[in-house]
Amino acid sequence: MVAAARAIETYRDDALAQDRFAEHFVRAARASARWPLRPGEVPGGDTNPLWGRLGRYFGLRTRVLDDFTLRSARAGARQVVLLGAGLDARAFRLDWPPGCAVFEIDRAEVLAFKRKVLDGLRATPRAARIPVAADLSTEWSGALTGAGFDPAAPTTWLAEGLLLYLPHAAERRLVDTVDRLSTAGSALAYEVKLAAPPPGARNHPVYSSTERQTGVDLLALFDRDPRPDSAATLAARAWSTAVRTPFDYTRRYGRGPLPEPDDALATNRWIFAARTTS
Ligand SMILES: C[S@@+](CC[C@H](N)C(=O)[O-])C[C@H]1O[C@@H](n2cnc3c(N)ncnc32)[C@H](O)[C@@H]1O
Repeated sequence: MVAAARAIETYRDDALAQDRFAEHFVRAARASARWPLRPGEVPGGDTNPLWGRLGRYFGLRTRVLDDFTLRSARAGARQVVLLGAGLDARAFRLDWPPGCAVFEIDRAEVLAFKRKVLDGLRATPRAARIPVAADLSTEWSGALTGAGFDPAAPTTWLAEGLLLYLPHAAERRLVDTVDRLSTAGSALAYEVKLAAPPPGARNHPVYSSTERQTGVDLLALFDRDPRPDSAATLAARAWSTAVRTPFDYTRRYGRGPLPEPDDALATNRWIFAARTTS
């Protein structure tokens, strides 16, 4: 779904992000082979709750995290870890500074699908790319260090669209692990929902529209446990943190979703953390 949103975003006249790999992932999977890939193919255009407003959200998120990742790598954190990398094609599309290594952690089946599609395109990464098959809800640091990750080197960590789906205990463990493996100069960005969607937001058209257009029940995917305050945990451990809403960036970039009644995005937060001391 995120890949389809990125494909559509790529071809918007006012695109915030470009991902020319995204459409190939969507076409390659049977379940999504007939989903729209261009703005002109979206029924209702920007009024479509899924491919319009939520799609714009994914486009904005992609751009903000592209900027974060490149800024952090250029500042010296050239070891990059994509947590729940999925179909993220940043290793192939960003203008990395020399000497970057991009570790992509996800489930083995997801990485195998991604590899098949990218091999078919003869895609060449623009940094060293190291896929790491691991379950992020259990112990995963051994798989990462076994793949060549160096805890003594500053790292750019990214968890885009991951923690919303993990149980709170897994989020706590993940934050502990990132903290333990991060030296001074490391940076982390991640997305959370502060709480399960409020009762009004459960009736938001994005959920019924998504189910109708794709068969996916988004609400069923979100973990419903009370969420841990990971930003506070990091702040207590010598990270500086900034908690932003997506709407902050809509205003900054002039495109993207704005708040609306019973908003399904109301509790979404993007957190940026930086470690200045070891
Ligand atoms: C919504 S996708 C986001 C993918 C990518 N970060 C992006 O924004 O394009 C969530 C990804 O997290 C991965 N994921 C979810 N739970 C996981 C787990 N326990 N271990 C490893 N990967 C997991 C999924 O396989 C999926 O690729």
